[in-house]
Amino acid sequence: MIGAAYLAPEGLEATLAEELRRAGAPIAAWHGRLALSPAPPVASAWALDTWTAPREIAAPSVKAAADALRAMQRNWQAYNIDHHRRAALIAARLPPVKARPLVFPEPAPTGHLGAWTLLAPDRLLASPTKSSPFVNGECRFVEDRAGPPSRAYLKLWEACTRLGDWPRPGQECLDLGAAPGGWSWAIAALGARVTAVDKAPLDPRVAAMPGVTMRLESAFALAPERVDWLFSDIIAYPARLHAMLAPWIASGLVGRIVATLKFQGETDHDATAAFAAIPGGRVMHMFHNKHELTFFWTNPSVAAAGIDPVRIGEARAPGSQIAKDDLQRVGAVAGGIVGGDVGGEDQVGRVP
Ligand SMILES: C[S@@+](CC[C@H](N)C(=O)[O-])C[C@H]1O[C@@H](n2cnc3c(N)ncnc32)[C@H](O)[C@@H]1O
Repeated sequence: MIGAAYLAPEGLEATLAEELRRAGAPIAAWHGRLALSPAPPVASAWALDTWTAPREIAAPSVKAAADALRAMQRNWQAYNIDHHRRAALIAARLPPVKARPLVFPEPAPTGHLGAWTLLAPDRLLASPTKSSPFVNGECRFVEDRAGPPSRAYLKLWEACTRLGDWPRPGQECLDLGAAPGGWSWAIAALGARVTAVDKAPLDPRVAAMPGVTMRLESAFALAPERVDWLFSDIIAYPARLHAMLAPWIASGLVGRIVATLKFQGETDHDATAAFAAIPGGRVMHMFHNKHELTFFWTNPSVAAAGIDPVRIGEARAPGSQIAKDDLQRVGAVAGGIVGGDVGGEDQVGRVP
């Protein structure tokens, strides 16, 4: 009996396994990067995607497999590690799901998407619900290869896409650890004002963009000030970053925080737990994170404006079971629209 399946980011299988062990959801087996656990789904910061309702289904033929999937719902994505030809034949009998790259700041897909894999040629594992709206958790963008001075801007794009919000023209942003300027470039390109703080200089092209101000100093020396967005991509131990962000959060002066937690060598699961325990905060491994997590925090006054989409299916405190209301929200978000808008495909219909 498989209670949940967790898709590990490449090379981070051991980190995910340790997180799940601590959360009381031990892994019974691996299927490629998919960790199969007999326990009910738990909140996982490290999983790229969590299959929240997996069921094993006998699939004696290609037709039987496709029929079983179609009988459950319309839209499915495959996670294939072997039996490729048979999997392709099954997929060919299902409505096509295109995972076209997003053109930022286009919204994340909202279509209902399930996931399946062949555990054996005649045995499917299929989950009609999963935590990520993206195919195998892969949030891909049409990249800008000319403007930004580093590829780090993709993390900021993904964070904003997961939030369903981004800096707007006229808003004030702080970008801590900004050099060479990928994040500041992305913020300025949205028309917001950004103060870039780093001990190293910005790329001159970014420094010259309208709305960009540079401060050559340590982010740790700053006192809280009123900003709509506080971004941090500083290289620092997560515990040190936690201590730095605490006064900003306590001040009530910040609208939203997006900060990268960077791990060197061993993963500091205790520091992760400390971030996840901050009220209004979430930690998540995004597709563009390396050995990193992204911390999101929303000021309660901003959150009061509506449900924060980053909450959907993502971590509360590591170790806690995903709350029932969160699972219902996963279902609610995944259950509304049938058909496209999966990775940007056109919407084709609604639940009758
Ligand atoms: C990964 S880079 C940031 C990349 C950046 N987000 C981008 O998009 O180009 C990390 C940066 O943190 C900066 N940094 C490290 N310690 C810092 C500190 N105490 N104050 C400000 N910046 C710091 C480093 O100088 C480095 O430029």
